[in-house]
Amino acid sequence: MRVALLGAGRIAEVHARGIKGAGAELAGVYDLRRESAEVVAGRFGGRVYGDVAEALADPSVEAVAIATPTDTHVDYLVQAVAAGKEVFCEKPIDLSVARALECLDKIGPAADRVQIGFNRRFDKTFARLRERLAEGAIGKIENLTIISRDPAPAPIGYLASSGGILKDMAIHDFDMARFILGEEPVEVFATGSVLVDPAIGEVGDHDSVSVVMRTASGVQCQILNSRRCAYGYDQRIEAFGEKGSLRAENPLRDELRVNLADTTDARSELSTFFLDRYADAYAAQWNSFFANLKAGKPPAVTFRDGLRALELAEAGNRSIAERRVIELSAR
Ligand SMILES: NC(=O)c1ccc[n+]([C@@H]2O[C@H](COP(=O)([O-])OP(=O)(O)OC[C@H]3O[C@@H](n4cnc5c(N)ncnc54)[C@H](O)[C@@H]3O)[C@@H](O)[C@H]2O)c1
Repeated sequence: MRVALLGAGRIAEVHARGIKGAGAELAGVYDLRRESAEVVAGRFGGRVYGDVAEALADPSVEAVAIATPTDTHVDYLVQAVAAGKEVFCEKPIDLSVARALECLDKIGPAADRVQIGFNRRFDKTFARLRERLAEGAIGKIENLTIISRDPAPAPIGYLASSGGILKDMAIHDFDMARFILGEEPVEVFATGSVLVDPAIGEVGDHDSVSVVMRTASGVQCQILNSRRCAYGYDQRIEAFGEKGSLRAENPLRDELRVNLADTTDARSELSTFFLDRYADAYAAQWNSFFANLKAGKPPAVTFRDGLRALELAEAGNRSIAERRVIELSAR
């Protein structure tokens, strides 16, 4: 399988590694900044395309990976589907549900063949939590808590065009909530503050948010996000049910325990950020993409999953703005 990579930034390099690691080939790379594409192609192989049309016209390309800024995803997605390519697209699908729906209209049934980059579904511990829940380990789930805290805010330029913390960051957690609950949230309440950096407020965003959701059967879910966390990249999930709880804790750098005059049983630090924390999950999502293609099966996480997560994020934004609970249909 040969893949054209659109984008050559932070996450694109992770995908180049994942594509190669899964035994596929990088056919070529396109980036608005040619030098960036040259660096990634130099490191992982493939040619450098002058534009998207050239990448899509390459007859050796069977699949396209979209890893460009969010506001470019739907245009590239529509073009890639029209060119008859299989598509992997980074999250979120777009900055607005309306544009994502227009895209869905244009690509039609191909939407079910598009994989969205919700890499956390491929994390071993989170997947195990979901499996044990489905096996009935804690009986019926009553409450799900998802904690996601970044070590430090991304550059303000990135945040200004990211679509805001709910669409850029909590979008992963909205997806994990759906993935684990197995039931659609139908009520969303969110509150947001600027507690970390006033510059984040100046670009119209929040850096600290709490979301509370409820499903039709009454199961509750909290999502807690911060753009700053003094002790590293904090990623935890707890499912609480009638018979007990399942907790996915942060993996530590190693199992060393340190005892000092003023500290007992101090443990090693957390991952620094998403690149090291989810390295295995990023690799696993590409293995899954190719395995499903080969088996003629739909991807593990589709355009419709991406759309639903975006709808929840947009409901969260409305809730913050209007200071009320937003209702959604279960659909
Ligand atoms: N799944 C994850 O864990 C994860 C992590 C980070 C980013 N992302 C997503 O990946 C996307 C890219 O984020 P990033 O952090 O890699 O950003 P980035 O800024 O590091 O990289 C974006 C790259 O796209 C290039 N570019 C800009 N406009 C372009 C265009 N019109 N056509 C082609 N190339 C263009 C830029 O030159 C840059 O090299 C975003 O949608 C983001 O939400 C996902």
